[in-house]
Amino acid sequence: MNIILLGPPGAGKGTQAERLVASRGMVQMSTGDMLRAEKNAGTELGDRIKAVMDAGELVSDEIVSALIDNCLAALKPEQGAIFDGYPRTAAQAGTLDEILGNNGRRLDHVIELHVDEDKLVTRIVGRYTCATCGAGYHDMFKQPKVAGTCDVCGGHEFKRRADDNEQTVRTRMAEYRAKTAPVIPIYEARGILTRIDGMADIDTVSAAIAAVLDGTQTKA
Ligand code: AP5
Ligand code: MG
Ligand code: ZN
Repeated sequence: MNIILLGPPGAGKGTQAERLVASRGMVQMSTGDMLRAEKNAGTELGDRIKAVMDAGELVSDEIVSALIDNCLAALKPEQGAIFDGYPRTAAQAGTLDEILGNNGRRLDHVIELHVDEDKLVTRIVGRYTCATCGAGYHDMFKQPKVAGTCDVCGGHEFKRRADDNEQTVRTRMAEYRAKTAPVIPIYEARGILTRIDGMADIDTVSAAIAAVLDGTQTKA
């Protein structure tokens, strides 16, 4: 099964992808994570990416599609893909169809996490991750069970993203509205889009996604 998690910054794409990886053995394909890895590598490409990401703008379609192409080719046939933060433009949506076709795959579900953008700023500025294993946490909504210790790996170092400040978040949201929201009708027309209330608590959102993947919920 191959699915897309679609939604603005802070909608919960990464949080829900992480859960699907744990519960269903699917593979998360986050272009944001891939780009951050490239950025941290300090290459010339990484420096160019850093400038774009830190401004909250979109990296070029060519760069992100090449990343997805490489990752999908490395998947085992039985592994399902969760596209997190990709596609983000109509052009990327077209490229994804091609890449999936070339790999003998098809898109089963597109899940739109429907959220109230004004409330997302709180989610984003409170977010941090384990510096060792990448597990995600939040100052208010998801703290480690033991303060200062990662639930997953026991690490003690945490980090915050350079683009998680209010001003950059506003730019990221404007980019979403202008360039990414227009892909929603494409998938709606194909009958594979389901809209879920992303403002519900994390467990409720997970249950709603599970119902879609298990075919126990009717489509939007
Ligand atoms: P990317 O890394 O994809 O960031 P984003 O889309 O802005 O989304 P986020 O990762 O901020 O949010 P999320 O939906 O994953 O939410 P999360 O689960 O963390 O992209 C970053 C940048 O890379 C882009 O700006 C662009 O420059 C570039 N880029 C990436 N992909 C690209 C592409 N395809 N094309 C071009 N450029 C690209 O949740 C947020 C917080 O809220 C967490 O702390 C979480 O614990 C909490 N939370 C989650 N769900 C809930 C809930 N239901 N209730 C309460 N709290 C919750
Ligand atoms: Mg994310
Ligand atoms: Zn950890």
